Amino acid sequence: MLILGLETSCDETAAAVVANGRLVLSSVVASQTELHAEYAGVVPELASRAHAERVLPIVRGALESAGVGLGMIDAVAVGNRPGLIGSLLVGVAAAKALAWSLGKPLIGVDHVHAHLYAGALAEDEAETSPDGLGTSLFPALGLVVSGGHTSLYELDSWLNPRRLGATIDDAMGEAFDKAATILGLPYPGGPNLDRLASEPGANERAVDFPVSRLGRESLDFSFSGLKTSMLYAVHGVPGERSGGPAPPPLTAERRRDLAASFQRAACAAAVLKIERAVEVAGQRGVRYRALLTGGGVTANSRLRQELAQVAARRGLPLVIPPVAWCVDNAAMIAGLAGERLRCGRADDLSLQAVPTTAV
Ligand code: KG4
Ligand code: ZN
Repeated sequence: MLILGLETSCDETAAAVVANGRLVLSSVVASQTELHAEYAGVVPELASRAHAERVLPIVRGALESAGVGLGMIDAVAVGNRPGLIGSLLVGVAAAKALAWSLGKPLIGVDHVHAHLYAGALAEDEAETSPDGLGTSLFPALGLVVSGGHTSLYELDSWLNPRRLGATIDDAMGEAFDKAATILGLPYPGGPNLDRLASEPGANERAVDFPVSRLGRESLDFSFSGLKTSMLYAVHGVPGERSGGPAPPPLTAERRRDLAASFQRAACAAAVLKIERAVEVAGQRGVRYRALLTGGGVTANSRLRQELAQVAARRGLPLVIPPVAWCVDNAAMIAGLAGERLRCGRADDLSLQAVPTTAV
């Protein structure tokens, strides 16, 4: 079963061909980074125009790279939520047109849930054995950390995520991007901050940035305090409290230390909530059998290490995508659509683009 997936929810135009929901035959991503760099953030109107120009060439590229013709496609999938509405509409319209003209099923996929599925994909047929990843993963704890979303889920199947908590302000990736901008790093900030924090000699204890806990049992996240602390560490505290000493000059060494200290606190917040979620589930008599992770920030070198450590401490197999599939891509859309199709959950041409996530 071959599924063509489309993804246009934010600033990546992507298409992929996935076989049997697991094997990635092609995954093509056209990033719009250069288009939005001068604004240090995604400009929705520019994004949707770029999607409209690129979507068909990208689909053609994905088919060519997979070595399949349109006639061989069994279903067309699209990330139809959540995202920028103008951007989503381009992908949804293109997917509808393709599905209708081919007479094949159309499958809408929640982009955030698809991030959790990315770790189940493989490029090598040997890794897609039916018993490789399956029901033995569930119930699972899921963590999505991206530029737009930061959420914890409990899943009893790939298609049944229940949200346990989410950020009450900034998403984790958004906090990385803003902290990077404060440090004067080029857009997109997350990967650049990661690189700076990984430089030899970076002192992650130079600044004791706050790790948000919220309520004692809360599984929500908050990153805006951490971001503001970075602002104050660089520019000083504004207003009436500003009688104190000026912040140290922003030397190359100080920037590196601030990046490492920020990254340490941000990762600690994510790990803390995972530990808490496992404990809260235990009190309900639920024992997770795997930790599923995904989203752009799971590309972060430190977070990857810490996720491996917390999963090992808790005796949970860690399902984490390779770096290329952490960030937005269409393979995860086509993959999760395979699960939907298998369970008879295809959509029809009334499928809508929706700015919010399903759960
Ligand atoms: O999943 P994604 O591509 O888009 C959304 O669905 O939001 O995530 C993009 C986010 C951006 O905020 C980006 O800075 C962040 O993921 N990111 C990283 C790293 N690579 C991407 N953050 C920290 N370290 C990285 N290595
Ligand atoms: Zn995403």
